[in-house]
Amino acid sequence: MKGIILAGGLGKRLFPLTRNLSKQILPIYDKPMIYYPLSVLMLANIKDIAIIVKKEDYKMFNELLGNGSSLGIKIKYFIQKRPNGLPEAFLICKNFIKKKKVMLILGDNIFYSNGIVEILDKAKKNEGATIFSYQVKDPSRFGILNLKAKNKISSIIEKPKNSKSNLAITGMYFFDENVSKYTDELNFSKRGELEIVDLINIYLKKKKLNHSRLGRGFAWLDTGNFESLLEAGKFIEIIEKRQGLKIGCIEEIAFKKNFITKKQTEDLINSFPESDYKNYIRKILNE
Ligand code: DAU
Repeated sequence: MKGIILAGGLGKRLFPLTRNLSKQILPIYDKPMIYYPLSVLMLANIKDIAIIVKKEDYKMFNELLGNGSSLGIKIKYFIQKRPNGLPEAFLICKNFIKKKKVMLILGDNIFYSNGIVEILDKAKKNEGATIFSYQVKDPSRFGILNLKAKNKISSIIEKPKNSKSNLAITGMYFFDENVSKYTDELNFSKRGELEIVDLINIYLKKKKLNHSRLGRGFAWLDTGNFESLLEAGKFIEIIEKRQGLKIGCIEEIAFKKNFITKKQTEDLINSFPESDYKNYIRKILNE
C-alpha cells in the first residue's frame, strides 16, 4: 500500500504565521506538524510515501525529512501548483500509486489513540474505500456523514450550514486502486475545488464504502486555526509530560517497527544536537 500526505494549501486562516512558512511545518508542541500524520502512516506499516507540497516549500520539507532512508522508508515529493482540492492528490500521484491501494492523510490532522494500529490494520484489509467519522461540536467546519438506520450512510456533505448530524469525516482515508480513475470523473465544485466528499460519494453509490466510527476515547485534532493549533500543542504537551512518552516521534516508530536497526538509530541521533528529543530517543534505545 502507498501513502500520501497532503501538505499543500495556503493556510490562510493562520496568516501571518503561514506568510513564508508551510502550515505543516509549524510546531505542535515539540515537533513539526507533519511528524504526526507521517507517524500514522508509519504505524500503518506504509513505507512508500508521497508528500504533496507547494513549490516554494519543497526545499524545507526535503531538508526536514529527506528521502526517508534514515527512517527506513521512501519519501517522494510532488508539487501541487495551486490548492485545487484534496482529490487532486490522486491525479498528481497517479504514476506513484499505479495499481496499488492508497492511504491519504491530511498534513494538518493529528490522530492519537491506544487502539490506532488495530484500526489501521483492519481498514487496510477492506475493499473499496474506508472513511473514519468522529463526533464534533461544530459540524459546519467539516465533511459530514448522515446515517440512517443500522449505521448505514445516507449522505455525505461538505461543510453543511445546518446539520442534524455531528459526525465529521476525519482527514484519513483509504482508497482502492481505482481512486485516480474515479478522480478523473470529478468536476470542480462551486468553490472551485475537487471535493473529497464527491469522490467518497462515488464509492458510496457503488456500495464500496466502509465506515468506521472513532469513539470518544480517540483523539482527533485538526490544526486549521490559531485556537485549534494551540489546543493541539497543549494536548500533546499534557500527554507527553504525564507519560514521559512522545507522540509522533518518527525515529522511535522507525526503530520499534524495525524499519531501522538499533545501530542505524544510534547513528541517526548522533547527528542531532544535544536536546531533550535526542535524550528521549537514546533512552528508548536503551530500554
Ligand atoms: O480535517 C478534515 C476535513 O478536511 C474534512 O472533514 C473535510 O471533508 C475536508 O474537505 C477537509 O476540510 P478542510 O476545510 O479542513 O480542508 P483544507 O482546505 O483546510 O485542507 C486540509 C489540508 O489539506 C490542509 O493541510 C491543506 C491541505 N491541502 C488542501 C487543499 C484544498 C492541500 O495540500 N491541497 C489542497 O488543494
